[in-house]
Amino acid sequence: MRLKNIAALVTGAGSGIGEAVSSHFRREGARLLLTGRRKRLDTAQPDDLYVPGDLNDETFVEDLAKQAVESLGTVDVVVLNHGLQASSPLTEMTYADAKNVLESNLLSAFLVMKHFAPLMPRAGGSFVCVSSRLGMVGKSGEVLYSAAKGGLIMLAKGAAIEWAPRDIRVNVVAPGLTATPIIEASIQRSPDPEAYRRERENQIPLQRLATPEEVADAVLFFASSESSYVTGSVLPVDGGYTAF
Ligand SMILES: NC(=O)c1ccc[n+]([C@@H]2O[C@H](COP(=O)([O-])OP(=O)(O)OC[C@H]3O[C@@H](n4cnc5c(N)ncnc54)[C@H](OP(=O)(O)O)[C@@H]3O)[C@@H](O)[C@H]2O)c1
Repeated sequence: MRLKNIAALVTGAGSGIGEAVSSHFRREGARLLLTGRRKRLDTAQPDDLYVPGDLNDETFVEDLAKQAVESLGTVDVVVLNHGLQASSPLTEMTYADAKNVLESNLLSAFLVMKHFAPLMPRAGGSFVCVSSRLGMVGKSGEVLYSAAKGGLIMLAKGAAIEWAPRDIRVNVVAPGLTATPIIEASIQRSPDPEAYRRERENQIPLQRLATPEEVADAVLFFASSESSYVTGSVLPVDGGYTAF
């Protein structure tokens, strides 16, 4: 069990990649504090602690940190998986839309890092940020999302250097298109779902979407002691999309 005696926070734990990360971590022996915006979490298990709320709200993040201390004592691993996908031409985005995308993907991650780093034990801790392939390359129609996910990568790299003296590691997993419910729903909404799926797959060297479990495998690597000398790094899990 690679996460025995480890206490971990997983954000955006209610679906897709967050659900797969929670299930991997549980299997590897971690004690879990889960969070997401929805009121109930059907996938939470009896031993998990689930606290719903909006991570864009600093008061909620402070309360979550207090709850973590009361329930878990310390937090060894934080997985910043929450995020908001947004597709819209740049000129059609309002300032409020843009602010929401930057808050939900970047500033909320800053808030969690700020309030959870002090809870990590002296022996070290690990933050794993879930960015995106679009944090590494630009894409028409997803400009603000891309900017936020690129910002998340630089937030992680800077924090990795700042916190290295405390032995806190900060790394990034950058998934490509992943077969989560939100992505599957967007494929099904297109006029010809099978043609649209093939078109998306053809843009990926491995010619298929990732599974949430494949992304969770990479998160588990950064959370465990197998990556004890790795910090400030970005691991694309994108079937070769950013290899060009
Ligand atoms: N699926 C992909 O193809 C793909 C590709 C690259 C990167 N990613 C990234 O991977 C992560 C997970 O994606 P996913 O596909 O599993 O998406 P998802 O199913 O939509 O999960 C995102 C989660 O983030 C939570 N969330 C969003 N904003 C929040 C906020 N302000 N406060 C608290 N929770 C918030 C949502 O909570 P509620 O559901 O309760 O609202 C949801 O549980 C995201 O960061 C996404 O950007 C996904």
